[in-house]
Amino acid sequence: MSQDGVAGAASSTGEKPRVLSGFRPTGPMHIGHLVGALENWVKLQSTHECYFAICDWHALTSEYANTADLRSNVIEMAIDWLASGLDPERCVIFVQSHVKEHAELHLLLSMIVPLSWLERVPTYKEQQQQITGRDLTNYGFLGYPVLQAADILVYRAGLVPVGEDQLAHLELCREIARRFNTLYGQVFPEPQGLTTRAPRVPGTDGRKMSKSYGNAISLSDPKEAVRSKILTMVTDPARKRRSDPGNPDVCPVFDLHKAFSSAATVARVDVECRRAGIGCVDCKNDLLGHLEPVLAPIRERRNELQVQRDRVRDILAAGAQRARREAAATLALAREAMHLDPEGCR
Ligand code: TRP
Ligand code: SF4
Repeated sequence: MSQDGVAGAASSTGEKPRVLSGFRPTGPMHIGHLVGALENWVKLQSTHECYFAICDWHALTSEYANTADLRSNVIEMAIDWLASGLDPERCVIFVQSHVKEHAELHLLLSMIVPLSWLERVPTYKEQQQQITGRDLTNYGFLGYPVLQAADILVYRAGLVPVGEDQLAHLELCREIARRFNTLYGQVFPEPQGLTTRAPRVPGTDGRKMSKSYGNAISLSDPKEAVRSKILTMVTDPARKRRSDPGNPDVCPVFDLHKAFSSAATVARVDVECRRAGIGCVDCKNDLLGHLEPVLAPIRERRNELQVQRDRVRDILAAGAQRARREAAATLALAREAMHLDPEGCR
């Protein structure tokens, strides 16, 4: 299943192994994304041939009735990625809908995917039940994992860095690749998931950090907002007074220390909290002292990019062009394998 730090199948050019990953532009990226994905992507761009997609069509599968913010979400996501250290000279950053080959491959794959495979994907029923206020009985939502498979297979990517929650989608992607290859001949490598062990990054209420819970610390939050979010963050609920000893093991602030603070600070908080040697406000200020140096340069680059929107758009246009070249080559192979190639009609 998932593999840690293992190189995937080499790209068709026989160079660095090829990586694809992406996110749905449904809102700002937060510090959970930074630790769980972006920092890893930044490392991968020097060792792998990387494609990073802003998956706007994926956003439509659930947000089809609410597209007013889609365009700005796409640009803001690009800004978050660039500010976090993705370098357009070393990786391909693009918007899914700018590379129409994703849609063509999605259509071709949709012909060979049994409905039962889609209905049994755990996220399908779960999200239909959890996400209220939107009708998710649409065709596109059921087909979400087929579109995701097309994103990956259209680059014949060998490695897909994703969170644990995406592994079922990846397994389905492999099954789709296998089915295609069995029906029409070998075109697609079976991609491997790349899950890196990331520290837990809880939100300010102690639940999983998520923009939909309103508990996220976003990369776009100003310094003061980060400060007030941390200072009002939940702690060990049993620690009511400064003189009460606390238990860092149940405190989400301690999780953030483990993700962002030095080992020495983590060790000291672990001891001092338990014997009421420090108060929660001290502890949180200490955390801010470690979090700010991570966020400040990102915020600074974000501010620069905010006023260079044309530059961001140029980066996305160039990324789409590079992505399209690879995607078009794959589609030529897929069409030929399926006897769809126009050349064959002469
Ligand atoms: N489904 C992913 C998510 O919700 C986003 C995504 C779309 C993706 N296409 C992808 C991730 C291809 C990896 C590969 O986070
Ligand atoms: Fe949590 Fe720190 Fe307070 Fe302990 S001192 S309960 S770790 S915030």
